[in-house]
Amino acid sequence: MSQTKGLEGIVATQSQVSSIIDGVLTYHGYNIDDLADNASFEEVVYLLWNNRLPNKEELDAFAKELAQASKVPDAVLDQLKSFPIDKVHPMAALRTAVSNLALFDEEADEMEEEANRRKAVKLQAQLPTIVTAFSRIRQGKEPVAPKPELSFAANFLYMLNGEEPDEISEKAFNKALVLHADHELNASTFTARVCVATLSDVYSGVTAAIGALKGPLHGGANERVMAMLNEIGDVDNAEAYIKEALANKVKIMGFGHRVYKNGDPRAKHLREMSRQLTEITGESNWYEMSVKIDEIVTNEKGLLPNVDFYSASVYHSLGIEHDIFTPIFAVSRVSGWLAHILEQYADNRLIRPRAEYTGPDKQEWIPLEKR
Ligand code: ACO
Repeated sequence: MSQTKGLEGIVATQSQVSSIIDGVLTYHGYNIDDLADNASFEEVVYLLWNNRLPNKEELDAFAKELAQASKVPDAVLDQLKSFPIDKVHPMAALRTAVSNLALFDEEADEMEEEANRRKAVKLQAQLPTIVTAFSRIRQGKEPVAPKPELSFAANFLYMLNGEEPDEISEKAFNKALVLHADHELNASTFTARVCVATLSDVYSGVTAAIGALKGPLHGGANERVMAMLNEIGDVDNAEAYIKEALANKVKIMGFGHRVYKNGDPRAKHLREMSRQLTEITGESNWYEMSVKIDEIVTNEKGLLPNVDFYSASVYHSLGIEHDIFTPIFAVSRVSGWLAHILEQYADNRLIRPRAEYTGPDKQEWIPLEKR
């Protein structure tokens, strides 16, 4: 049973949402490369939730529905203001705020499919509002209300910065959202499915998933990649830094993957975006340092970059604060969590595996006074 540590290689459910087969990632059969090059994030969300691409009319209606649902109850925003904001990580703030959203949604515990779909729209639309509001509040600025006429990607950057993004930034951010939207039974998605398989509510499933994404072995890696790049500081320092870290058995953030052993198909898109964006910002050093680290880790350890590695320099180039990187992952991945939650409800069975017991056998009870 010890081979099952970390459930490696275990097929724990069936799903139509996305697949990783022979290192190829698809969302409901559509190759991630095609989606990254062509799809809007809204189209991808529609695909994940409906198992088909929308036509123009359906997409327009869906984008409008999302835009109309983006307002977060004032009480939830007020609560954000009451957090010890200079100490709280935005992922912790997001986790708590999403849990709070349930308290202000009268249909939080309604289990009908239509009610769950309405909650999915609200969560998808409101996560960006929460993340951007928190970022602004802690800078002493007022949250910016979304503009319904902007795309999902543009709106996020607009609410974050208070200025509409240029076309290149909007396209790059849209692509990053598309690439992060779903990923089969990753840790946070599994968490969401386990939670709702008890017939708990959608908000609980998403709150649990945010908790799982937060960890450095999952979504939390992208922020730590940027911390490492900052620490290395210059491409000439990369070799010594990485070799020493590997010699000390320190894990290099943004490398390795439980499922992909021949490379993460999302990484090449982010690498190219990093190249382009750092050239535009005049900070190619981040890209060059990343490429150098990539070469060294690959040569020394045979490990390839995952989705988190080049996304760090991409988000940095878009002017995003480093601790907002993982919340952005959540803003995208909530689409996948919700697709899996809806799929779980549609054909539910409690998820309850077993554990191999390794503790002592047949212990004799000792009364308290004799211990
Ligand atoms: N740096 C250095 N060594 C590594 C790394 C790494 N990033 N990743 C794996 N290894 C080594 C391990 O030390 C281990 O070596 P050993 O056999 O000599 O002890 C071997 O490779 C196998 O590693 P595991 O940790 O057992 O692999 P696992 O499948 O459990 O973990 C994981 C996968 C968590 C992604 C791991 O590669 C890792 O910690 N990477 C760094 C964190 C990271 O980038 N996380 C983001 C993943 S993608 C995502 O969630 C979006």
